[in-house]
Amino acid sequence: MDARNANEVESARRIIEDMVGEKGLNLLINNAGVLKRQGIPEITEENMLLHFETNTVGPVMIFKEMLPVLQKAATNGSAGMNVSKAAVLNISSAGGSIASQTGDFHKQRGDTISYKTSKAALNMAMKVISLTIKDQGVLVVNMCPGWVKTDLGSAAAELEVSESVSAMMNTLSRLNESHHGTFIDRNGKTIPY
Ligand SMILES: NC(=O)c1ccc[n+]([C@@H]2O[C@H](COP(=O)([O-])OP(=O)(O)OC[C@H]3O[C@@H](n4cnc5c(N)ncnc54)[C@H](OP(=O)(O)O)[C@@H]3O)[C@@H](O)[C@H]2O)c1
Repeated sequence: MDARNANEVESARRIIEDMVGEKGLNLLINNAGVLKRQGIPEITEENMLLHFETNTVGPVMIFKEMLPVLQKAATNGSAGMNVSKAAVLNISSAGGSIASQTGDFHKQRGDTISYKTSKAALNMAMKVISLTIKDQGVLVVNMCPGWVKTDLGSAAAELEVSESVSAMMNTLSRLNESHHGTFIDRNGKTIPY
């Protein structure tokens, strides 16, 4: 589905509902993201909105659409929170950490202002959501995959896709209610908001 297209998100929810039935949906991973570099002064409204629509609004609207199917899974099984029961994993970025925007780190990446803004907003949106649904058994976590060799990360990145994904999978299996509403790296270490 196109994460920016409400009709496609709704169709995806219907397909998922047919597939999972009464068991509900155990895990939603909001992974789709864009990064199109533009800094000050060339930054455009179009560039800002593209990032906000894809990286922030999309995950929130997908969450909203999938919540009833996640809630169904949350009511099944044992107490507590984990990804085998009901969870939302948002693939965020350490670039969205406002607390980390200091010194060289900030200077090097000024042309990712739209991306960073959209990921900080994603983190906030999911933090608010985590508090709103805190008693519903659906785990909500924001995770940074690290700097990975993908189209977005470029060939200069530190990690192979397999390294990043296996670390995230390892961490995913250890997530519990203590991680609800947190922002962590692929190894489970806290990233400051
Ligand atoms: N790579 C890194 O170093 C790094 C670091 C931190 C965070 N992340 C995050 O990791 C996630 C995955 O990124 P990646 O590195 O794998 O980047 P990527 O190689 O550029 O892949 C991005 C994916 O998102 C999809 N996408 C973009 N817009 C979409 C939309 N409107 N609807 C549905 N799908 C859409 C793309 O689909 P199409 O190919 O069809 O356009 C593509 O499959 C992103 O959220 C990114 O912000 C990556």
